[in-house]
Amino acid sequence: QQEFKIAPSILAADFARLGEEVDAVLAAGADIVHFDVMDNHYVPNLTIGPMVCKALRKHGVTAPIDVHLMVEPVDDMIAQFADAGASIITFHPEASRHVDRSIQLIKQAGCEAGLVLNPATPLETVKHVLPQLDMLLLMSVNPGFGGQKFIPYTLDKLREARAAIDALNLPIRLEIDGGVTADNIREIAAAGADTFVAGSAIFGKDDYAAAVAAMRAELAQ
Ligand code: DX5
Ligand code: ZN
Repeated sequence: QQEFKIAPSILAADFARLGEEVDAVLAAGADIVHFDVMDNHYVPNLTIGPMVCKALRKHGVTAPIDVHLMVEPVDDMIAQFADAGASIITFHPEASRHVDRSIQLIKQAGCEAGLVLNPATPLETVKHVLPQLDMLLLMSVNPGFGGQKFIPYTLDKLREARAAIDALNLPIRLEIDGGVTADNIREIAAAGADTFVAGSAIFGKDDYAAAVAAMRAELAQ
């Protein structure tokens, strides 16, 4: 089992003070910055783009930035995010016409590559490209909004994904996104996730360090 990583989703941060919010959550013990990019086309919401990623790097953020693209098409955004300082770029296979090519573009741009599966998208979709991935992200809510409830059948999917990754014996991270809280994180980890996105469960609390510590305490059990 790889080491557990906590990735706060800045979707739930105060955008008027984004630099401070990211500093605060990293100081609170988070590992990765989860950066949700929505285009009001692939998903019915609109958020932030490469300029904001670049601004965070300029602000001094050195932690990995995990760019979750909920945009269609995908390819135009890859070089821009790589230039803006993205560490990992993940995308939804439904949003790219040529999934293998998009993965190659991400790697050629010098970033780690990942695919994101919506709750109803079968694992089978990634079967042939899994060995090329640095990360597989399973959505445990429908993409587009923070603060939704964790969809329980995702646990079965996590178990299947964990088995597929272990069978390859490659260091592919298995990330979960949506409705993760300190109350369900242990169950989610037991199902095989090693990287946990949490938006409202961290930024919705007054004390980020306590929120992160509560998750780590559950993971340590
Ligand atoms: C949803 C986003 C998530 C979201 C998670 O489309 O991909 O990253 O911000 O938020 P919570 O943790 O509040 O469900
Ligand atoms: Zn996300």
